[in-house]
Amino acid sequence: MSHATPHYASFRSIGAYVPEKVLTNADLEKMVDTSDEWIVKRTGIKERHIAADDEATSDMGAKAGQTAIERAGLNAEDIDLVLCATVTPDYFNMPSTACIVSDKLGIKNVQAFDISAACSGFVYALSVAKAFIESGMKRNVLVVGAEKFSSIVDYTDRTTCILFGDGAGAAVISATENKDEAFVDIHASADGSYADFLVTPAPGSVNPVSQKVIDEGLQYVQMKGNETFKLAVKTLTKDVKEILEKNNISAETIPHFVPHQANYRIIKAVGDALKMREDQVVLTVHKYGNTSAASIPMAINDIWESGRLRQGDMMLLDTFGGGLTWASALLPFAGKSL
Ligand SMILES: CC(C)(COP(=O)(O)OP(=O)(O)OC[C@H]1O[C@@H](n2cnc3c(N)ncnc32)[C@H](O)[C@@H]1OP(=O)(O)O)[C@@H](O)C(=O)NCCC(=O)NCCS
Repeated sequence: MSHATPHYASFRSIGAYVPEKVLTNADLEKMVDTSDEWIVKRTGIKERHIAADDEATSDMGAKAGQTAIERAGLNAEDIDLVLCATVTPDYFNMPSTACIVSDKLGIKNVQAFDISAACSGFVYALSVAKAFIESGMKRNVLVVGAEKFSSIVDYTDRTTCILFGDGAGAAVISATENKDEAFVDIHASADGSYADFLVTPAPGSVNPVSQKVIDEGLQYVQMKGNETFKLAVKTLTKDVKEILEKNNISAETIPHFVPHQANYRIIKAVGDALKMREDQVVLTVHKYGNTSAASIPMAINDIWESGRLRQGDMMLLDTFGGGLTWASALLPFAGKSL
């Protein structure tokens, strides 16, 4: 009986796309009853980027994906699975944004589908890529996290409109026989009993589009901010501690802790609980706000483009979002350093 060489999943490259238009706290002061001081103090956010009216989630995802494919030294023909994590798809029912991204990148006749796990979407998608590669079914997976969150935000609601931004990030996950390059572990979980903490009530089978939906603004994101905040800190801390313990890795040895960028206070509380040094914690929330599924790959791209992320560096990813969903991942960067 022959034994096939085992395939491991490795993180080969990163790319991102940030839309041009900037929405500052000063701009928001003119739109709702808020202040730069309140927003910075409560969230750490100073500005966020907003997609152009004619720019769809797939446009941003395709741009990030193109960069990731090039940086992996691959071509469109090499990609055999496309995953797009998003809760702001081009179309809410069909086709999936992954199909449209594939078409825009010239990726033909390969499996493509979306992952809906809100802010946890990118790490969820990494776990799917890992499973496809380890099973031997696929070799080069394009994982995109892309959001036009501004398309579901009510810019008259000061409790949500200050938080979110648009953008995209993407990574190529490839098969390797080299264990040193392999993903170490991914934990992903969910608890639907907290579904009402973060929800867009329409459109969907519960609330199909109607005049009532429009009149009541049910197409916009609704959030129990304070409850979400408390649960996020508790869950993220526990989850990260567990993945580190399970793999016998101590927090101080991780060069890059990349938490979901929702709120500086959440990141600080989790970082402090893990006794992380400031230089370990990746921060982009001040300039991008919360970009949901795009947040983690955009943050990884930032440290790669600034030369901080080197080949072989261990990354600890940690995220939390609507569902509720949460996930953490331990994986080395297996691409080339800048
Ligand atoms: C949204 C969030 C910043 C609000 O901060 P908070 O400290 O929890 O504040 P609260 O919601 O308790 O509101 C405190 C007060 O500020 C007010 N407030 C809310 N938004 C405001 C704004 N943009 N500007 C000024 N005041 C605001 C509230 O109305 C409230 O006033 P009140 O005390 O008179 O009722 C915070 O809860 C948060 O970040 N939650 C997690 C959100 C998140 O991460 N979501 C995505 C998960 S992926």
